[in-house]
Amino acid sequence: MKPIGVLFVCLGNICRSPTAHGVFQQHVIQRGLCDVIRVDSAGTGDWHVGHQPDRRSAAAALQRGYDLDTLRARQIAVQDFREHDYILAMDAQNLRDLQRLQPADFDGELALFLSYGSRGVREVPDPYYGESDGFEHVLDLVEDAADGLLNELVRRHRLPGAHG
Ligand code: 4NP
Repeated sequence: MKPIGVLFVCLGNICRSPTAHGVFQQHVIQRGLCDVIRVDSAGTGDWHVGHQPDRRSAAAALQRGYDLDTLRARQIAVQDFREHDYILAMDAQNLRDLQRLQPADFDGELALFLSYGSRGVREVPDPYYGESDGFEHVLDLVEDAADGLLNELVRRHRLPGAHG
């Protein structure tokens, strides 16, 4: 079976989407689904291509047991729409930028990542220019939505390991 491709997208691919990448990847591994679900991330912008995640994001993630060290920023390409089934944007501007890039024949899902969350929040706020508690807030939102997304993928695609 072809793996389900999940791509997280933000602006720079150094704060929010690598955090989602690392957190969701760990959820997938913990459920024994890493052969079934492929996880990646990208940015709509190109300023940070090749860079490691922002050290504040990496430090906050590591405190919660997520290692972002191997991730490197890249810019989204049209090919990503062929290679992923779920393209999940961190905020509404990311979503608009992705809608402009989306090929007419894309038959996957392009949505806000937090549509899978339970906190009644639509967007993951950009922590780049803010205070350090912004990075904790990103992690809180991302952990919640990662849970919701994985449960939904298990249900929708009838994957093993469904709870109940
Ligand atoms: P991200 O955060 O989109 O969550 O990776 C940002 C990183 C860098 C910039 C903006 C947002 N920047 O303007 O360089």
